[in-house]
Formats: sequence, structure tokens, C-alpha cells
Amino acid sequence: MNQEIKVLAISGSLRQKSSNTALMKATIGLAPEHMIFTVYGGLGDLPHFNPDLDIDEGPASVRELREQLKQVDGVLICTPEYGNGVPGALKNALDWLVSSGEFVNKPTAVISASPSPMGGSLAHASLLLTLQMINAEIVENGKVIIPHITLKLDREGVITNAETRQELQALLQGLKQACRGQHITGT
Ligand SMILES: Cc1cc2nc3c(=O)[nH]c(=O)nc-3n(C[C@H](O)[C@H](O)[C@H](O)COP(=O)(O)O)c2cc1C
Repeated sequence: MNQEIKVLAISGSLRQKSSNTALMKATIGLAPEHMIFTVYGGLGDLPHFNPDLDIDEGPASVRELREQLKQVDGVLICTPEYGNGVPGALKNALDWLVSSGEFVNKPTAVISASPSPMGGSLAHASLLLTLQMINAEIVENGKVIIPHITLKLDREGVITNAETRQELQALLQGLKQACRGQHITGT
């Protein structure tokens, strides 16, 4: 059972000093053996979703995203909340994936983090609705909301809160198990 599990990690923040990107990388640092992560770097390069552009092979950046998703067993998304919702860049990426189907049955875990006491819970809920619509499989323990992120992640990107670390380890285990399950059933 030492087969490699491949995961694409997507941060919903384009900000250079993003706490969500730092948290995503810290989470990857907690991953158990045999989980290999690729950080998706193209979120800011995708054109605005327009069905008129989604013809033939579509834009190169969209093709690249779809290809990266096809190559992985699972997905980890870590996102802030903007204006009580999912950041536009992340929602835009998901809009490109509605018709192409790369998320169907794809084991997926979702983290939202915010300096606010709500932890980006509205973005989290909205993101789950979109993922449900595109038939992603949300894994066991795969929904984590982290309020007061600035108190739980230090400037070096180290998770300083034990409970948060445990939640993220449980999320990673859930993601790993779900990806393994799909290897076994061949879906
Ligand atoms: C335009 C704007 C809107 C925001 N809206 C929300 C919000 O609705 N809810 C929330 O919890 N935080 C909100 N924030 C605060 C972000 O959570 C905070 O800036 C966070 O650090 C952004 O994530 P990042 O560090 O990963 O870039 C907003 C920030 C900006 C700049």
C-alpha cells in the first residue's frame, strides 16, 4: 500500500504574502508519507470564464489546469473570503471546470482561513456548493475552517496552534484514504 498519492494544491489567494498560501504550504509539510503535492501556480493567468472561449481545446492556461487536475488523485483547496464569498479568481477557475468534468468524483479537501472570528465560513460554504455542483468528493474531515489565522500561523509559516495542526493532519488522512479508495476501485 505504498503507492504514491498525487494531490494538486490550490490557494484561493493571489497575494504574495498570503496567509492561506502559507497555510497550504504548512499543511503540505504535515503530509504523511507517499502523498506528493504540486502547487498550482496558474490561478492569476486564467482568462475570465466565457463559454464562447470554451471551444475546441480552449485557452492554453485552461488546458493546463485541466491537464494538471487529470494527473492527480486529489485536490486540496485553501482559500480566504472576500466580500462574504469565494475570491473571484478561484471561482473563475472552478467555472472553467464545470463542463469539462475534471472534478467528478475527485477526492477534495477544503480549508478556509481568515483573521476574522468567522474564519471565512461564508466562502467555505459557497465553495462547497460549487464543488458539490461539479461532483467533487469532499473527503472525511476534509472541511476545515480556521478563524484568527494570524494567531495560529507565525511569520515563518509554522502552525503554532496544536488543535489546528491536528485538524489539518486529520484532513490529510481523510484525503489520503479517499485517494487510496479510488485507486482500489479504479474510479
Ligand atoms: C477586499 C477584501 C475583502 C475582504 N472580505 C473578507 C470577508 O468577507 N471575510 C473575511 O473573513 N475576511 C475578509 N477579508 C480579509 C481577508 O480574510 C484577509 O485580508 C486575509 O488575510 C486574506 O487572505 P490571504 O492572507 O490568504 O491573502 C477581506 C479582505 C479584503 C482585502
